[in-house]
This record gives sequence, C-alpha cells and structure tokens, in this order.
Amino acid sequence: MRHLMSPLDFSVEELDRLLDLAGDIERNQKKYARACEGKKLAACFYEPSTRTRLSFEAAMLNLGGSVLGFSSADSSSASKGESISDTIRVISCYADICAIRHPKEGAALVAAQKSAIPVINAGDGGHQHPTQTLTDLLTIRSLKGRLGGLTIGLCGDLKFGRTVHSLINALIRYENVRFVLISPEELRLPDYIREDVLVANGVPFEEMERLEDAIGELDVLYMTRVQRERFFNEEDYIRLKDYYILTREKMLLAPSDMLVLHPLPRVNEISVEVDDDPRASYFKQAQYGVYVRMALILTLLDAAKEDSDNA
Ligand code: NCD
Repeated sequence: MRHLMSPLDFSVEELDRLLDLAGDIERNQKKYARACEGKKLAACFYEPSTRTRLSFEAAMLNLGGSVLGFSSADSSSASKGESISDTIRVISCYADICAIRHPKEGAALVAAQKSAIPVINAGDGGHQHPTQTLTDLLTIRSLKGRLGGLTIGLCGDLKFGRTVHSLINALIRYENVRFVLISPEELRLPDYIREDVLVANGVPFEEMERLEDAIGELDVLYMTRVQRERFFNEEDYIRLKDYYILTREKMLLAPSDMLVLHPLPRVNEISVEVDDDPRASYFKQAQYGVYVRMALILTLLDAAKEDSDNA
C-alpha cells in the first residue's frame, strides 16, 4: 500500500513521472474523464481548507469518481473522542483513497499505519503539506521550464509554514537550487529543516530580513501567510502579520521573469494591485493543484490495484 506523507516518499524519477502525467492531464482532460469511475475519495478535513479540499474533490470528480467526507472536526466523530486510527479503519470500508488534514503533526502517518486504503497527507499541523508541494513543483516546472538551477526566495512565516518545509525537502533534490530565506527573526526556518535538511545536504542558502534586499536576485518568490492558528498568543501574531507586504513598488525591484507564488489563502502579504502583474502566478498555481491531484489519485490507486492483483 502506497501513501503520501512527505514529498520524499517519491523518488525524483517518480516525481517526474507524476508531473508528466499531470501535464498530460492538463492537455487532454477528456482522456481521463472516466479513469476513476466507481472509485470514491474520502476527504477528511479536521482543519479549515478551501483549495486543498475542493481541489481534491474536483480532481476525483474530473476523473469520474465520487467523493465523501467532512470538512471540520466538529462534524466528525472526533468531537465525540474517536481516535484517528479508528476513524480511518472505518473509512477504509467506505472509500478507495483518503485525503486527510489534521492540526496535529504526524496525524496522517498514524492514519496510514492503520489504513487499508492509500492515505494522502493534506497537511499535518506545522509539519508537511506534500500535495501543495506537488502543486508548487508542477507550477514552477510548467512556467519556468525546469526545477534545477533556480534561486528560490521563501518569504514570511518560515517557522510554522508547512508548505515551505515540504517545498524545501522536495527542491533540494534538484541540481543547483539555492534558497533565500526571508523572515523576521522570530519566524525563521526551524532547525530541523535548516540544519538537518539544508546544512546536512550542503544546499546553499542565505537568511535575510528585508525582502527588498533579496528580491532582485530571485527566479521564484514564494510568499506565505503568517500562520495565525499556530501562534501561542494573539499579540505576537498582530505584531508580525504585516511584516511583509509585496507591493507594486517592490515588484519594480524584481527580475522581469520572476514568478510570484503563494499557496493561498492570502491575507495582506501580497497587495491586490500585484495580481495584474504578469509575474503573479498564484491563481494559476491553484489551477495546477487540480491536475497534480488528479495525477496523484491515479498513481496511488494504480499502485493499490497492483498490490491487490499480486496478493
Ligand atoms: C496552506 C496550508 O494549509 O498550509 N494552504 C493551502 O493548502 N493552500 C497555506 C496556508 O494556510 O497558509
């Protein structure tokens, strides 16, 4: 049984194949319209979500399958005290594949260990968000033509931003990738990524506080929201929430072919006036999220089928 907990669960070759499949889906959607007929996706979301949940649902519907699930912990039996392990054992009887989002780090892994169907981590606390990473990789590869040889600026809440953690893990496997980490001191990248991933693998990076100092040398600027729900107190959040605001003025300092990405939702960190800039690619990125999730569902269901055929 194959699950997706972290982007590292796929080798670079497997990732390439998945992104190729997503590209083919983008060009020939009709060809895949019945690929998952009779299959069901359970979308189990214990934390708020718009894009991830709906793009998973859209992906399964585009493949001719159906969806079931819940969109908050309150509306599931978690509110009665049921464990994730029990919930997933039951969901395994109702669906063929499950996407799960949970505020606790490691929750998806706990589910995967008890599951009879493929489990996809759709975000576990401040830890990982591998399907956003697949989306980001597809966006960068489609719009830049490559994943290697890039200088990537990551800006905002690098401490709690799980999309950043997963993206770094994935991108270090490509040649000549360099990171510029732009954050206030208090929201710096956690040690388990800076030391254990970047330093340990000899990946070049710089840390900076001012976006203006970095923006001129970037191929990709990945903006993130300050993760209010993971702060211990509201005052700290209020003090830090508007630390970075990407404006039209700052975009004047950026290369003409720099991509601006953001996993969304945006709060204040990108001014709406930037949306019309041809370099602003965050809404396209959300669209790529559907294609890549279609490719992921197909890949994991295929692997599960092979498993059961060989059993
Ligand atoms: C991200 C998340 O949930 O981590 N959103 C998303 O899935 N696109 C980013 C965020 O919430 O800031």
